[in-house]
Amino acid sequence: MRIAVTGGAGYIGSHVALELMQAEHDVVIVDNLSNSSEVSVQRVADLAGHAPAFYQTDIRDVQEIRRIFSYHSIEAVLHFAGLKAVGESVSEPLAYYDNNVNGSLQLLQVMRELGIRQFIFSSSATVYGQQEQPPFAEHAALGPTNPYGHSKRMVEQLLEDLCVSDPSWRVAALRYFNPAGAHPSGLIGEVPRGVPNNLMPYVLGVLTGRYEQLRVFGQDYPTPDGTGVRDYIHVMDLASGHVAALDYLQQHAGFNVFNLGTGCGYSVLQVVETFEQVSGHGIPYTVLPRRPGDVAESFAVADKAWKSMSWRAERTLQSMCQDAWNFAQRNPEAY
Ligand code: NAD
Ligand code: WQD
Repeated sequence: MRIAVTGGAGYIGSHVALELMQAEHDVVIVDNLSNSSEVSVQRVADLAGHAPAFYQTDIRDVQEIRRIFSYHSIEAVLHFAGLKAVGESVSEPLAYYDNNVNGSLQLLQVMRELGIRQFIFSSSATVYGQQEQPPFAEHAALGPTNPYGHSKRMVEQLLEDLCVSDPSWRVAALRYFNPAGAHPSGLIGEVPRGVPNNLMPYVLGVLTGRYEQLRVFGQDYPTPDGTGVRDYIHVMDLASGHVAALDYLQQHAGFNVFNLGTGCGYSVLQVVETFEQVSGHGIPYTVLPRRPGDVAESFAVADKAWKSMSWRAERTLQSMCQDAWNFAQRNPEAY
């Protein structure tokens, strides 16, 4: 198929673009490079053996998107472009609603105009509410608690309504849990701009000497070792999950939602220990109070994707840490 990948220079989008190219799809990457670099597109080309088409364009530039989609006769859009920092979304809500909600809306309007009806959306486990205990199945109560989470949920709602209005749409909203790891080659991976908010990139910052110690946010949660538990999923598993979802959409119209997680939770200290094992280095840490807005545990019921799309996450926490460490070592200056 001829597929547009918005945000395809970014962390998850670059891995998915590569996976699609390796599955013989024609890939067109559209990214404004606000949180990424063209180097990742070059690396994807190196790994695939041929280059994807690339446009440094904002998804809200309707004229340009229309031109690109028609020129390439796009048949499906995988939509990763957006802003993703929870804390920043609280201080910059307009930027988040503009990029994430308005950006998606503009994209869908162009798609409708051109008759493109297949869409895969990067949603997030952050849409689940705190009124239920994990594990979260897709039908669990929703209740995001910050503008970023609201923006994801708003787009899901928009997609659901669109599919009701016109049954020819084929849409999958994929709710990622905690993406981690990198391509095993060490050529593409996560390159955080500024001080990372997420656990894994921060631990890598400690391992590479950029930060003195990890700050563990809370050791008084009702979890086995008192630290927060999350469902980390290897970005390569996420990538194969998108190809599975695209295959699924060839047989299933309408709005479909899937968790992409492993179904297993690991604590902050288990992540630290695993990084210590794979790197052979100690990781100093200090325990601070809980981070506002954090929950004790979050992990998926991952059965629906397995039953419906025959997809499940295969890679271990060890492989996530190993591949992330390999990427960090090979790219000391990032890119
Ligand atoms: P990322 O920042 O690495 O990738 C997003 C890409 O989109 C970047 O390359 C950025 O330059 C581009 N972009 C942003 N706004 C754009 C715009 N208006 N027009 C064109 N390009 C634009 O982030 P990621 O971790 O790869 O996340 C990809 C998607 O997955 C995002 O939608 C994110 O919300 C979602 N998601 C991420 C996580 C996570 O923890 N990484 C978890 C759940 C969901
Ligand atoms: C994991 C655990 C922290 C950093 C976020 C978003 C979510 C999704 C994924 C996009 C928690 C602890 C962290 C640190 C720590 N993104 N921690 N020290 O908060 O589960 O999810 O990223 O959709 O929407 O909210 O991930 O990696 O920030 O935290 O102790 O320096 O690590 O308290 O228990 P989180 P995280």
